Amino acid sequence: MSRKFYITTPIYYVNARPHIGHAYTTIACDTIARRQRLLGAETFFLTGTDEHGQKIERAAQAAGKTPQQYADEISAQFRQLWRRMGISNDDFIRTTEDRHKKRVQELFRRIRDNGYIYKGTYTGQYCVSCELYVDGAQPGDPCPTCERITETVKEDNYFFKLSEFQDKLLALYANPEFIRPEARRNEVISFVRSGLRDLSISRSTFSWGIPVPDDPKHVIYVWLDALANYITAIGYGSSHAGAQEAFKKFWPADVQMIGKEIVRFHCVYWPAFLMAAGLPMPKTIVAHGWLLFEESKMSKSRGNIVRTETILDVLGADALRYFLLREVVFGQDGSFSFDALVQRYNSDLANGLGNLASRTLTMINRYFKGEVPYPSHGASKTAADVAIAEAARKTIREFGTLFDQFQFSRALESAWALVAAVDKYIVENEPWALGEKQDEDSRSRLATVLYTAAEALRIATALAHPVMPEATAKIWAQMGLGDIQKLPLSELAWGQLPLGTKLGDVQPVFPRADKSAIERMQKMEEEQRSTPVAEASAAATPAQTTAPQATPAAVPAPVPAANEKISIDDFAKIELRVGLVKVAERVPKADKLLRLEVDIGTE
Ligand code: MSP
Repeated sequence: MSRKFYITTPIYYVNARPHIGHAYTTIACDTIARRQRLLGAETFFLTGTDEHGQKIERAAQAAGKTPQQYADEISAQFRQLWRRMGISNDDFIRTTEDRHKKRVQELFRRIRDNGYIYKGTYTGQYCVSCELYVDGAQPGDPCPTCERITETVKEDNYFFKLSEFQDKLLALYANPEFIRPEARRNEVISFVRSGLRDLSISRSTFSWGIPVPDDPKHVIYVWLDALANYITAIGYGSSHAGAQEAFKKFWPADVQMIGKEIVRFHCVYWPAFLMAAGLPMPKTIVAHGWLLFEESKMSKSRGNIVRTETILDVLGADALRYFLLREVVFGQDGSFSFDALVQRYNSDLANGLGNLASRTLTMINRYFKGEVPYPSHGASKTAADVAIAEAARKTIREFGTLFDQFQFSRALESAWALVAAVDKYIVENEPWALGEKQDEDSRSRLATVLYTAAEALRIATALAHPVMPEATAKIWAQMGLGDIQKLPLSELAWGQLPLGTKLGDVQPVFPRADKSAIERMQKMEEEQRSTPVAEASAAATPAQTTAPQATPAAVPAPVPAANEKISIDDFAKIELRVGLVKVAERVPKADKLLRLEVDIGTE
């Protein structure tokens, strides 16, 4: 029986349209899910949207919509965007779905029946943006997480006996794998050690939420509602046998990925709710850092967001996926800039993997009629050939270890060290010079060099596939290897490239991006920022059903106004021709068209 693997993202609030901060969490999970599938695990990857609570109710009101309409629109934007980015989630849960609502009520009942819920009155401060009760705060105090001013809440609530779980939680944290990285684990331990107060788990002064079973004047606290998605989506609380089977199979989750600002909810409240319901704990909760833009956390309220669509339009999904995982040290905050994105794209993708693929495959086409050549095994094999094979073997081991410890950037660094080593090998062995010679030794040497380069390319491509699914699938097909998704990654080893394989159609995968790519992206974002916020967050993104664009220049460069000069980079793209206009005549029934016949001499 195959191993199962269950991975979750947090579910996204629908008070604002998605930005690349959201994409970051989702991309990290997607990459892990894809790798697990290739490794043969029966994988379930869940994401979705968090649609209840006071924050969403207010955002909808501000946009002049009902909360359901508002949630429908923004949830659809997330789904469209994830499709366009090649996100391979197996389910998308919305907390306003019936299946979720019923199962959350079931969880509430179970916790209540187990004796962990009582009725009381809450008086204290609440942060609507974080949907967080801020213990110990006074009226007028800011929220410790987002720094917005808290609101005073006084209402009848149901309480959860969180205080009873302090020791059990501390015992749980003794397992160093439960919360990663270490710094987050230490924060949580000291928070729990300082004492836990019971938690209000219902609200009674607004109604946008799931009614408390048997007491519908109350709605369930949005964090209990939202956290439960991780189990409701896979069938917890359902009476259907199939759903119960799925729950049994997939729970506990293998990886729950979150951003660092929601650690308390996931590492304190969530395990306590699960314990109260008598359910097993997730195996690991991994917290990543923030994506910063213009030096602070990218967020709608700060107005410093970068939309994912902008990058997809100009550079494609793979470029964004690679950049975020390569550039940001996972677990720490990382800065985003368009300059850094384009620089990475050019150095690692256009000049790195893309160039290795096109030069290797083009030479196999030219010198071996497009068939993978047979390398020599005898004395003509050099130390350099052996070194590349050894480097590739080491990369397979290193990449796997680093990646599976969530060190994506180091894993990619190791795969790109292999790409660089092969580039150097090609330069030093000069296959183009060997290709000019016809003697047997030169032919045999050429075959070995190109085989070695192609085999290393295959390995780098296979390892990078979960990160850049589209581009690597193209390279794989160009190598004549068929469908990359069928690759048994756990068996990846040097020497598996079938000799004599007929290459497919060789095309560049990452065309170079020039400066105008940066300017275009900046301009698109400036235009977006000058759009009023309410309109921007409510506006639907255009429907996108096609596969993600991996090629830059999908959007034409803006045409300069008549009196505007073009840049030197644009000038370099222009081909100037001189011609003699021989005929210029009106086109019948058109008042803005002329038919020209021009003699340019050669054509
Ligand atoms: N709805 C809650 C999660 C409930 S899970 C039971 C929530 N939603 S969120 O939309 O605000 O954030 C969802 C995820 O996006 C979080 O992991 C958060 O850390 C991530 N990010 C949002 N902005 C981000 C950055 N600027 N940088 C990195 N990740 C960010 O919290």
